[in-house]
Amino acid sequence: MRIIGTGSALPKKIVSNDMLSEFLDTSDEWITARTGIKTRHIITEERFEELATEAAGRALDASGLSPDDIDYIICSNVSNLYITPHLSSLIQGNLGIKGPNCPTMDVNAACVGFVHSLDLCDALLSTGRARNILLVAAEECTRFCDWNDRNCTVLFGDGAGAVVVTRGDNLLASRLTSVPMPDVIVYKNPMEATPYESGEGIDTRQPLVMKGREVFRMAVTSASRDINRMVADAGLTLADIDHFLLHQANLRINEAIRDNLKVPEERFPTNVQRFGNTSSASIPLLLDEGVREGRIKRGDTLLLSAFGAGFVTGTMILKY
Ligand code: UT7
Repeated sequence: MRIIGTGSALPKKIVSNDMLSEFLDTSDEWITARTGIKTRHIITEERFEELATEAAGRALDASGLSPDDIDYIICSNVSNLYITPHLSSLIQGNLGIKGPNCPTMDVNAACVGFVHSLDLCDALLSTGRARNILLVAAEECTRFCDWNDRNCTVLFGDGAGAVVVTRGDNLLASRLTSVPMPDVIVYKNPMEATPYESGEGIDTRQPLVMKGREVFRMAVTSASRDINRMVADAGLTLADIDHFLLHQANLRINEAIRDNLKVPEERFPTNVQRFGNTSSASIPLLLDEGVREGRIKRGDTLLLSAFGAGFVTGTMILKY
């Protein structure tokens, strides 16, 4: 596969750490020191599927293709208003992609969803099942926060990133892993208790719970190990990678990984400071930003690396 267009979109509302400390027992000092995050974008006025469609439309424009050229849509998503219909079918309608020969499906692989889906795109393209795929990673993470709980609320933001991929041989290496550890990051939806069992009108939703320190440790260990292995297996060295695009969850996690790898800061872009953790949208947001600012150029070698609930990881090396 080969990426031929990128796009992204963020909600208008920007919330600073100081704004959060007006109603939570937290501070700009704590959030900055522990996470590097200063602001995040939060969906307020806009509709989530419009944001996802905006990112998708930008990627489509950048690809130079028309909506009718798209013959598959995949959307990576953890949390949004709709459980059904799936987001990729809503995006299909919004972009005027008529179908019926354009399958749509959503993928939930937590924060690794974009890397998992990109790997899936390669399989669909190389087996001839699709020619041009629109892949959107859109997340409304602030929907799973309890706004009275300082532990998680300060970490997340909303956003969407997208790519259009076509047939090509730009994927150099890919490795996805999954180890069942169901209690490190958990978010349950209200379906666990039916109205009959719970009493009508009772909100049984539980906010996201996370073993932060454990996730931190596993993220640093697994990403450092997987990146080193993958680069060696591909017959490359770390010096051959032009841009390390890592999941943006916490600046300290990325700095610890960069310290382990001993890679210069300029090849390790970050935007978690401005956007917070946007789950699977974080890597395509980082990619689109780099492309639009002219830092990421055609022919550059990219390494993508993500980790998340499950516990899952995804690492990939590709030419842009
Ligand atoms: O993509 C999803 C993957 N998730 C992650 O990547 C999260 C990985 N983990 C982390 O990023 C960090 O573990 C956190 C940022 C979540 C927490 O940082 P930490 O350095 O591990 O802090 P901690 O949880 O050990 O808490 C230290 C202290 C505690 O107080 P005591 O027990 O020392 O008195 C907390 O109650 O900080 C307190 N605390 C806060 N204080 C102010 C926790 N949250 C806050 C807060 N503001 N928002």
